Amino acid sequence: MASSSLKFLTLLLVFLVSLQRLSSADAVVTAPTILPIPAVGPIPSSRPKRVSLDFHYDSLDNSSSEFLVKIIPNILLEELDDFVKLTLHPYGKSRVGRNGTVLCQHGQKECFLNKVEACAIHVLPHNMGAYFVFCVQYMVSKGLVNSWEACFDLLIGMDRNPVVDCYNSDVGTKLELRYANESSALVPAITQVPWVTLDEVPLYNTSYENIRKAVCHAYKGTPEEACQKEVGYADETSPTAKFKKRAFRRGWI
Ligand SMILES: *[C@@H]1O[C@H](CO)[C@@H](O)[C@H](O)[C@H]1NC(C)=O
Ligand SMILES: *[C@@H]1O[C@H](CO)[C@@H](O)[C@H](O)[C@H]1NC(C)=O
Ligand SMILES: *[C@@H]1O[C@H](CO)[C@@H](O)[C@H](O)[C@H]1NC(C)=O
Ligand SMILES: *[C@@H]1O[C@H](CO)[C@@H](O)[C@H](O)[C@H]1NC(C)=O
Repeated sequence: MASSSLKFLTLLLVFLVSLQRLSSADAVVTAPTILPIPAVGPIPSSRPKRVSLDFHYDSLDNSSSEFLVKIIPNILLEELDDFVKLTLHPYGKSRVGRNGTVLCQHGQKECFLNKVEACAIHVLPHNMGAYFVFCVQYMVSKGLVNSWEACFDLLIGMDRNPVVDCYNSDVGTKLELRYANESSALVPAITQVPWVTLDEVPLYNTSYENIRKAVCHAYKGTPEEACQKEVGYADETSPTAKFKKRAFRRGWI
């Protein structure tokens, strides 16, 4: 069971990453930055501002895992990037104790994975961080928590050193404390995980269909521009649609 799951995951990741490579072939790869990440720079054209989609989750929470495993590939495969700014918050319902230590719902192990994911999101270019989170959460959803490290090898071209360096330095801790600040600033306050907000407003129906619809409506571009991807997705002959059908049938996503 576990090894066939792994085989499926490998295929999916290779597909996702190669797709990502293709779609970002001429984008500029920026070197990993150190804290603080600058705010999103000026928007180059007259293109409307991207919709902010924020996922707050706990790495060892099963509903968070199931959610992320379904949602991340959907969003990345549909290349919603043009009009959505997807932000993952591996902090969920953790809190900061009186002595400044982060305390997690499912204990030390969850704090550990939350921080590893925070580092991956922070140091890896493009959407590699999101793919890494997808991979780790896939392991968690299959009860293979201890195999999370395999994700360094499953993601082609991934360099583990920046992630490990981040984890072992105070950068990882600072990241978690920053997530803590963002989390405590949520209005209304987070009551459950996964907690999804669209332009800071909670989305209580977190089905992918609903998220996509909400994004499409929130985007201030022309409806054609925002919803074009839905048409592309509906096109049964597109490679993405074909892949998605196969992946769904096999239960990968
Ligand atoms: C901080 O407090 C937690 C419990 O609230 C405890 O487990 C931890 O060891 C403390 N850390 C330090 C550095 O004192
Ligand atoms: C989460 O799912 C895993 C794998 O299916 C299972 O082993 C674990 O007990 C579940 N945890 C909780 C808190 O339900
Ligand atoms: C969190 O917010 C408080 C008050 O707004 C600030 O003093 C603190 O430096 C922030 N911490 C981090 C890690 O950003
Ligand atoms: C969530 O939204 C989807 C799509 O908009 C809809 O089909 C589904 O019935 C909704 N679920 C709930 C529980 O409201």
